[in-house]
Amino acid sequence: MRPHTVDLVARDTELAELAAALSEVAAGEPRTVVVGGEAGIGKTRLVTEFLERHAREARVLVGRCVDLGGAGEAYTSIAGALRPLAIEHGDELRAVVGAGGHRALQGLFPQLGDAGAPAAPGGLHEAIALLLEAAAADAPVVLVIEDLHWVDPASLAVLRFLTRALTDARVLLLVSFRSDEIGRGHVARPFLAELARDRRARRVELARLDRRGTRLLMQALTGAPPAEAEVDALLERTDGVPFYIEELVDLDGCRDGAPQLPEGLRELLLVRYERLSEEAQRIARHLAVGGVEVDHDLLAAVLRAEPDDIEPAIREAVASGVILATETGYCFRHALVREAILDDVLPGERERCTSATRSSTRPAPVAGGRSPRPSPTTGPAPATRAARSPPGCARCARRAPRWATRRRRSTPSARSRCGTWSTIRRRPAACPASSSWGARRRICATPATWSVRSRC
Ligand SMILES: Nc1ncnc2c1ncn2[C@@H]1O[C@H](COP(=O)(O)OP(=O)(O)O)[C@@H](O)[C@H]1O
Ligand SMILES: [Mg+2]
Repeated sequence: MRPHTVDLVARDTELAELAAALSEVAAGEPRTVVVGGEAGIGKTRLVTEFLERHAREARVLVGRCVDLGGAGEAYTSIAGALRPLAIEHGDELRAVVGAGGHRALQGLFPQLGDAGAPAAPGGLHEAIALLLEAAAADAPVVLVIEDLHWVDPASLAVLRFLTRALTDARVLLLVSFRSDEIGRGHVARPFLAELARDRRARRVELARLDRRGTRLLMQALTGAPPAEAEVDALLERTDGVPFYIEELVDLDGCRDGAPQLPEGLRELLLVRYERLSEEAQRIARHLAVGGVEVDHDLLAAVLRAEPDDIEPAIREAVASGVILATETGYCFRHALVREAILDDVLPGERERCTSATRSSTRPAPVAGGRSPRPSPTTGPAPATRAARSPPGCARCARRAPRWATRRRRSTPSARSRCGTWSTIRRRPAACPASSSWGARRRICATPATWSVRSRC
C-alpha cells in the first residue's frame, strides 16, 4: 500500500473497531468489516494503519479493485490478494484444494501450470475458500479488498461466496468502498445489503474530521500547532476531508511569491499537474488514460519514445508528487488526481492514445499473469462510471467540499507553512462535472487495453 507521511489522527474509535473484529476472528469467529466513506476521507490510510499495527498477529492479503470504466477484467482484486497464498504452497497445493480446485486455481494463476479445460466457477470459489481455511489454520487471515465500488462481478461473486461459506475459519474480510459511489443499480449494492443483515458483519463509516481532527492533522503536517483562525479557515474550505487538508497544507502556494489558491476542487487537484512541463503533463495524461498503474515500457511504447528519453519528464512528475513510481511502472498519488487529469484529456488525444495502446499491447494480463477466462457466472458487465454517477452536478455537490476559495499571495508564517489561511477569500465553488470535458468523461469508458495490476 502507499507510504504515508504523517501519523494517523482522530481515528482511534475506528481502529478499535477493527482491532475488536480481529480479536473475534482470532477466537474462531469469522468477521466482515466494510469501511465506507467518500474519496479522500482516509479509508486506505485507516486500513494501512490497522494492518501495520497488527501485522504480527495475522496473515495479511491485499487486493485492490481498479477503475477500468466498466470494462474490468474478471477476478482482478481476488487474484491480486490470493496470488502469494496460492503460489507458496507449491506442490502441496493440490492436496489442500483437491484436483478440481487445483485446476480451477490454474485458470486464475498461470504460474500454477496449464489448466487445460476451464473449470466451473463454483469450483474456483470452493478452492479459494479451502485455500483461505488452510491459511487460517496457521494464523488468522486478514483479506483486504480495497475500493469495492470498482469491483468486477467475478470478484464480487467470490466475496459473496466467502461470506457465506467461511463459517468457522479465522478470516477477517475487510472491504473498503466509496459510499457515495454505490448507488441504486450498482453491482455491489446487493452484497452490501446482505452484509447489513449479517450478524458477523460490521460497517465502519468514516466521517469528515471535526475541528479537533483538522487541527491535529494540520499540526502533524506542518510540525507546529496552527493558529485557531487558520484551523477555522481550513476546516471551512475542506469540510474536514483529510486528502484536501493534506493537499492545501502541502501546496507551496501559501508561501511568498507562490501561485494563487485554486478556485475549485478540480483546480486544486490539478495544481501540481499544471505546474509540470508540457512533456510531463502529456505523460500524466497518457497515464491517466492508461489506468491505475502503467508499466514503464508500455508507456514508452505508447508515447513512441525510447524509455530513456521520457525519464526526465517522468522524474519531474514523480518529484512533484503527481505520480508515484512502482516496481515496474507508475501510478497516481491518489485516484482523485487521476480522475481530474482524465477530465483534461481531449477526445482526439484519448483516441490517439487508445489506438497507440492497441498497437503496443497484446491482450492485457491481469495482475501480473495472463487474462483469466471469462466466467459464465460473472453476471452482467459492471456498470460504467457514467451509469453509476448521478447526472449533472449532484455528485459534485455532495462530494466536493466548499472549495469556494482563492488564495492570495501570502507571507509565510515562521511557525506554519499555512500561516495565512485567514486571508483566503471565498468564491462560488467550481464543479468538475459541469465542465464540458467533465461531461464528456462521463460518457467515455476508459480503454481497458492497458496493462493494469493491483497496486498493493
Ligand atoms: N486520519 C488521518 N490522519 C492522517 N492522514 C490522513 C488521515 N486520513 C487520511 N489521511 C491522508 O489523506 C490522504 C487520503 O487518504 P486515503 O486513505 O488515500 O483516502 P481514501 O482511501 O478514502 O480515498 C492520504 O494521504 C492519507 O494519508
Ligand atoms: Mg483509498
